[in-house]
Amino acid sequence: MSSTDKVFAGSIPKIYDEYLVPLIFAHYAADLARRIAALVPTTVLETAAGTGAVTRAVTAALPPDVRYIATDLNEPMLAVAAQRQSEDPRVTWRQADATALPFDDAGFDVVCCQFGAMFFPDRVKGYAEAKRVLRPDGTFVFNVWDRIAENVFADDATRVLAKVFPDDPPRFMARTPHGYHDKAVIKAELEQAGFRHVAIETLAGVSRAPTPEYVAFAYCQGTPLRNEIEARDASKLQAATDALAEDIRTRHGPGPVEARIQAIVIEARR
Ligand SMILES: C[S@@+](CC[C@H](N)C(=O)[O-])C[C@H]1O[C@@H](n2cnc3c(N)ncnc32)[C@H](O)[C@@H]1O
Repeated sequence: MSSTDKVFAGSIPKIYDEYLVPLIFAHYAADLARRIAALVPTTVLETAAGTGAVTRAVTAALPPDVRYIATDLNEPMLAVAAQRQSEDPRVTWRQADATALPFDDAGFDVVCCQFGAMFFPDRVKGYAEAKRVLRPDGTFVFNVWDRIAENVFADDATRVLAKVFPDDPPRFMARTPHGYHDKAVIKAELEQAGFRHVAIETLAGVSRAPTPEYVAFAYCQGTPLRNEIEARDASKLQAATDALAEDIRTRHGPGPVEARIQAIVIEARR
């Protein structure tokens, strides 16, 4: 993982929340909310909560007496999350690294994490932390993206940016969000962290946007792909975004556009 892959700051959090969340994250947040509501928890910890897509979906599905702590490594993501969440005394926002959680042992019925594990520098450590803070009968519910070939717009972005920067292609999408999808590895790492009951399934979906420009702006400017583009040549950010929009227009039409997304959803118990 490159050092800028985990940096969600500057202009990224707001664009991420306005564009990326409806495009690819809301669908899977609704899935996690259904799974978590079925577990009837009274205490929930969310790690890598980002701008709160899952927090909003899960809290809408849980009763008034729940205690919900939403955490993320990057404070600017949580600032957008807190702004977006309607007043809710059940929710506490707190900066925290998922691989070194500032919570006591066995305090939560559920730990959840949407599309965060790929960013952990040490996944076994992150999983062991989730296990440590779970009650003995608690559940760790999380998801990761499947391979990039199953996630068409992310693949389009990677292919087009390799043409814009042929000497040093920005590989963030393939390397990090879509770089951790081997179910056998995920299961083995969870078991290494002490989880004994692991259920894993593949969940396909469709990402929809009004225009190709929307998709290009979301990926190039609302994710750490932006950090990679700017590190190569900040003056090319808009040209790179335009090149992706043009490619999506050619492949998927002038809009509305849609494309396949696919994730892997995991429920692990101690
Ligand atoms: C793709 S975003 C997912 C955000 C949110 N869960 C969602 O569904 O929109 C990945 C998030 O992981 C966070 N992150 C990266 N490394 C982390 C770590 N070690 N501990 C906690 N959060 C981390 C980033 O700040 C970012 O908000």
